[in-house]
Amino acid sequence: MKLFVDTANIAAIEDLVPLGIVDGVTTNPSLLAKEDEDPSETLKRICELVRGPVSAEVIATDAEGMIREGRQLAAIDEHIAVKVPFGRAGVRACGTLARENIRVNVTLVFSPTQALLAAKVGATFVSPFVGRLDDIATSGMELVGQVVEIYDNYEFATEVLVASTRSPMHIVEAARMGADICT
Ligand code: E4P
Repeated sequence: MKLFVDTANIAAIEDLVPLGIVDGVTTNPSLLAKEDEDPSETLKRICELVRGPVSAEVIATDAEGMIREGRQLAAIDEHIAVKVPFGRAGVRACGTLARENIRVNVTLVFSPTQALLAAKVGATFVSPFVGRLDDIATSGMELVGQVVEIYDNYEFATEVLVASTRSPMHIVEAARMGADICT
């Protein structure tokens, strides 16, 4: 199982990279806003440090805006995976960006049907938000199990990126279920 770090903090990434366990990075607009630097500079720096996928999220809420922003984010570095939120606009944007060979991480996934649609439009990664589901008394890990099963049934290449993890037990359970990545 691959391990990504969910941060935009350069010092934290520099601290972990020498351990040889960091396969990629996930950021989001709130994480980037915590840093002093311009977000594109931070993303460029992260891509230099970690030679694996680095998720960078769009802020637009309409499909055209997501596509425009996605292209700009992808131009920062070849390691960028554009993060789009699940929804009608996100699904449309994912399909368009994927056809342009831009890697897309469909995020804020809370159900197996959402994960299925994301895979159908060519998402490279799908991010079920386990902690946020647990927060509303719904099992986040049960969702991960369902998504892994569905993707296996149809041999989708989309990787299951377990996000919003809150404890080491989430990581253990994700590994036992065969999820591709934990962040
Ligand atoms: C992952 O891509 C997200 O940035 C992150 O896991 C969100 O988690 P949260 O629920 O802790 O905000």
